[in-house]
Amino acid sequence: MPQLSVQHITKRFGQLVANDDITLDVPGGKVLAILGENGAGKSTLMKVIAGLLTPDAGDVLVDGRPIPHGRPDLAIQAGVGMIHQHFMLVPRLTVWENIVLGREPRTRLGAVDRRTAVRTIRELSQRYGLAVDPESPVHALTVGQRQRVEILKAFYRGAQVLILDEPTALLTPQETEELFASIKHFARDGFPVVFISHKLDEVMEVADRIVVIRQGKVTGELPADDATPQKLAELMVGRAVVLRVEREAVEPGPAALEVERLEVAATRHRPTVGPISLTVRRGEILGIAGVDGNGQLELAEALVGLVPTRHGSIHLAGKDIADLPVRERTSHGLGYVPADRQTDGLVLDFPLWQNFILRDYASSPYRRGVGIDRPAARKAALQAVEKFDIRPASIDVFARQLSGGNQQKLILAREILRRPDVLVVSQPTRGLDVGAVEFVHRQLLELRRQGAAIVLISLELDEILTLSDQVAVLFRGRLSDPVPAADATRDGIGLMMAGQGFEAKAVSGQ
Ligand SMILES: Nc1ncnc2c1ncn2[C@@H]1O[C@H](COP(=O)(O)OP(=O)(O)O)[C@@H](O)[C@H]1O
Ligand SMILES: [Mg+2]
Repeated sequence: MPQLSVQHITKRFGQLVANDDITLDVPGGKVLAILGENGAGKSTLMKVIAGLLTPDAGDVLVDGRPIPHGRPDLAIQAGVGMIHQHFMLVPRLTVWENIVLGREPRTRLGAVDRRTAVRTIRELSQRYGLAVDPESPVHALTVGQRQRVEILKAFYRGAQVLILDEPTALLTPQETEELFASIKHFARDGFPVVFISHKLDEVMEVADRIVVIRQGKVTGELPADDATPQKLAELMVGRAVVLRVEREAVEPGPAALEVERLEVAATRHRPTVGPISLTVRRGEILGIAGVDGNGQLELAEALVGLVPTRHGSIHLAGKDIADLPVRERTSHGLGYVPADRQTDGLVLDFPLWQNFILRDYASSPYRRGVGIDRPAARKAALQAVEKFDIRPASIDVFARQLSGGNQQKLILAREILRRPDVLVVSQPTRGLDVGAVEFVHRQLLELRRQGAAIVLISLELDEILTLSDQVAVLFRGRLSDPVPAADATRDGIGLMMAGQGFEAKAVSGQ
């Protein structure tokens, strides 16, 4: 059986030690999970194994033989098959063309032997339950299918060791289950498999052993059978964390946000989104689930006024705001936490405290004459830093200097502490550690308790199911009817995320 061994790998980027003396062994037939927060050093390690990065120290061995450093070609030759976080396929080529690219089987006359290629791929695809049509062009495939093509490609190239870097990030729950079944099948066939994730439940489900890394160092290694979410979270974060938030019952009030037949016109870069109708009452969270790229960004931006809408109305506490510019919507009580904090949420070259008052600098409480009341603004920013545990806790650092997690907390603090009547929040916990996730969830629930209406757009189905009162699914620019979260199941929502139930709606919705 093939075997992968990683010995004392250290990798620095300047001052930063991204991998600090990491050693692991993956015997054939086993799935090893590498668990760690964003930035822990997981992808770096994988790139070292795949020869894409040269380590400063240490060795990678397949079957006891070291792979020369920094040679992806030799890593592939040694049998390393790496499935990246971002796919590397050519959309206009077919599945089989992508898979054989650069290694085309030839007929005796030297032409590309399409029949042999297609047959080989069919066999591989049946063997591992990786259903995909070899003749289909890649651009016509779903994300889950594209990933299968990447895996088939690795096997076609003779992979003996399979490494998957956060492979579930873009999948529906059903696609995730199918992938897990395939992964278990690779292991049963004797391959060592490395599965990388930051999700506790996933590693517990798919792995035999779990290695946890934090800030480049291995902080623990344990059999999956001995793992509990609590133990894993502690190893990841370095302290005990509360994983479940209490969600108290809130009697919803009158409708705070009413959207009717809202439509965003297509451009060269995006398809039409809508018509979308939704209602959120005070004290209610409407969770919007969906696979990335189904109109999440367009819907959020249409609600807050960042993209023009073609049709439809948006009523905020009874007033139609659909034609108002962003700033006026904001002063009418709308808050927004964008998914992309760097470009949409912050002015990176402003200090922290100025970013904190960005929405309100022209109005009370920070206005003084024609200028801003600096002491009042600075005091409010200091309180926010304290309350939201934003580090480093100086309010004079530039937003650019904050880590991703701290930038996210700064935006959340600004939007939540303004006490908006309606908050549109997209991917509120992306990039936060599990401890910070729980904190943010509690803040959102507190805002709901105080009577805000919240539209929660998230790719994390667990987050949606934990927080929401109502759940709807966004698919190809259309929104399903909401269901009470109490009646929503992972499987049911997952099927809708893949489009089930939308054909009928598309017809009746016209
Ligand atoms: N090419 C690079 N240059 C400089 N720093 C990098 C580079 N790649 C990753 N890093 C840094 O190394 C650390 C680990 O990153 P990464 O391995 O991508 O983490 P993970 O995959 O666990 O989220 C992070 O702090 C990241 O910013
Ligand atoms: Mg990564």
